Amino acid sequence: MSYENVLLDEIEAGIWVLTVNRPHALNALNSATIADIGAALQAVAANAAARVLIVTGAGEKAFVAGADIKEMSAFSGVQGQDFSRRTMAVFRSLETLSIPTIAMVNGYALGGGNELAMSCDWIIAGDNAVFGQPEVGLGVTPGFGGTQRLTRLVGRARALELILTARNVKAAEALTLGLANHVYPAAELREQVLKQARMIASRGPLAVKLGKEAVQRGQDLDLDNACQFEAQVFGLCFSTADQKEGMAAFIGKRPAAFRGE
Ligand code: HXC
Repeated sequence: MSYENVLLDEIEAGIWVLTVNRPHALNALNSATIADIGAALQAVAANAAARVLIVTGAGEKAFVAGADIKEMSAFSGVQGQDFSRRTMAVFRSLETLSIPTIAMVNGYALGGGNELAMSCDWIIAGDNAVFGQPEVGLGVTPGFGGTQRLTRLVGRARALELILTARNVKAAEALTLGLANHVYPAAELREQVLKQARMIASRGPLAVKLGKEAVQRGQDLDLDNACQFEAQVFGLCFSTADQKEGMAAFIGKRPAAFRGE
């Protein structure tokens, strides 16, 4: 399946890359691109052999430089709210994809770009990356979940500072804020992300998915219920062939050959 504004490739067995592909506009997210991202995510979700998804932007300069300001400039209030809701649904489908997702931030991740990156499980950035929520400088608030996900990721005071000043943050500061998990020289970014993706793809696929689900669901529960959920998930693992294979491989001193069953 091909998309107008997105590339979707399986670069190695089970390792998928979704590239936002509007480099002439620094990959700005217009409605068509949001729809393409949604459709590409559905395709990945339907692929039982997918193990990990990397999300990135085309070109050397930008991950995604935000929502498309040219499209938004003539919006009515109703259109703005509709754009926000449609995109939030797509970003939520990214966040709740059953397999791990890594944002490979290769340049500007501003506004909707930072919100896209934060909808992935974690962010790995090149040393040329620039993060920010510039919306208040345009007379609007963040609208793709930024006020909520940034707050959960870096804490209330830091999120407020970034959103209300609209100042940009370079990769090194993003690392200290906990926005990015790792920063690598831009030339090494792809290989480093791939290394992590291969690591994930080599683990027990069902355990990886259940581990993600436990962390995500647990975040919205109190500790007792969250730990209860973890116990259920842990128990469920023992009904899988992957658990038998993983433990037999350890005891037999050989690498595990997981089948995701
Ligand atoms: C539309 C954009 C764009 C955007 C860049 N472009 N960002 N078009 N929407 N968000 C276009 C430019 O208009 C230009 O097109 C081309 O991409 C190259 O960009 P330049 O500005 O010439 O590049 P440069 O001088 O290097 O500056 C890079 C930049 C700057 C600092 C990233 O482009 C910039 O500030 N962009 C806007 C960033 C921003 O405010 N993002 C938040 C948007 S609001 P032409 O045709 O002139 O060559 C948002 C809200 C989300 O995301 C919630 C909505 C509900």
